[in-house]
Amino acid sequence: MAEDIRRGLTSTPKDLSPWPKYLYDGEGSRLFEEITRLPEYYQTRTETSILRRRAEEIAARTGCEELVELGSGAAGEKTRLLLDALAARNGGRVRYAPLDVSGSALRKSGERLLREYPGLSIRGFVGDFEGPLGGLLVDDPGTPPRLVAFLGGTIGNFTPRRRLRFLRGLAAGLRPGDALLVGVDLVKDVETLEAAYNDRAGVTARFNRNLLRVINARLGGRFDPRLFEHRAPYVAGKSRVEMWLVSRAAQRVPVESLGISVSFAPGEGMRTEISTKFTPVSARRMLEEAGLRAAGFYTDEDRLFGLLLATPP
Ligand code: SAH
Ligand code: TRP
Repeated sequence: MAEDIRRGLTSTPKDLSPWPKYLYDGEGSRLFEEITRLPEYYQTRTETSILRRRAEEIAARTGCEELVELGSGAAGEKTRLLLDALAARNGGRVRYAPLDVSGSALRKSGERLLREYPGLSIRGFVGDFEGPLGGLLVDDPGTPPRLVAFLGGTIGNFTPRRRLRFLRGLAAGLRPGDALLVGVDLVKDVETLEAAYNDRAGVTARFNRNLLRVINARLGGRFDPRLFEHRAPYVAGKSRVEMWLVSRAAQRVPVESLGISVSFAPGEGMRTEISTKFTPVSARRMLEEAGLRAAGFYTDEDRLFGLLLATPP
């Protein structure tokens, strides 16, 4: 973490967006759950509605018996719709292998699912999905086919190079018979996109500023979150919403564990996160570039959100 944050704080412009995982400490995970329920944040409820209509079809088409979920978070209704659909085809039995950096979210969701599903067995992993996925995607010919789900538009939070590397690694870890289900937020009018990241209740602003608290707690930073303003413009040329924190004053912020002091000019911004938006065509191209085969595209009536089904090469 120290190396990542040092690079981010000393680059021009300051840029922490290559490392979205640091947003999700216990408090960040809790705030993200709050975001998913905001009226402006259409993503979660739209993706859920697509799965409500399509989970059974996806289960039938893929014939999988295990759900592997990357960045599972609170493992809410979307996870349950997929587990229900897989379980229904396998006599009520289903296996679930979630991976998330947030140990608290993982434990909480795992305990609840075990209470709710008598036929469920879970192998949970606290870890980084950009690291090796060997423990999760065991390469053992005896194991049944797996549906790997990567939901919530989290794929949009990678920078392009990291996204390609991630998908190539994933493609290499899939065996014939496995399938990949990726949720992508779709390009749409700027007002809708910007409202989703500039909610009236200010929850996204708190989520964004929480990154400063994480740096304070883990690296001895002295950021005062009140001295940074939340901004989230849609950058059309890059098809992405960019989250920024903009300094309200000239300030120098020491970060003890890094042995540095970071200067901010008044109005100077630091990028904290990106959320890339796709079209059905750009999404398909992304899969193919990574060597995956596009096998299906599911969307809602208003084409707000998409679910891509892919199979290994
Ligand atoms: N899948 C859920 C949560 C999406 S938010 C949904 O669709 O609502 C992104 C999730 O990915 C968070 O739970 C976060 O903790 C996790 N995450 C972010 N970066 C990660 C990384 N590098 N490795 C593992 N998990 C990560
Ligand atoms: N995967 C989510 C998204 O891209 C993450 C997210 C939602 C997010 N709201 C945010 C990240 C605000 C940073 C700031 O929509």
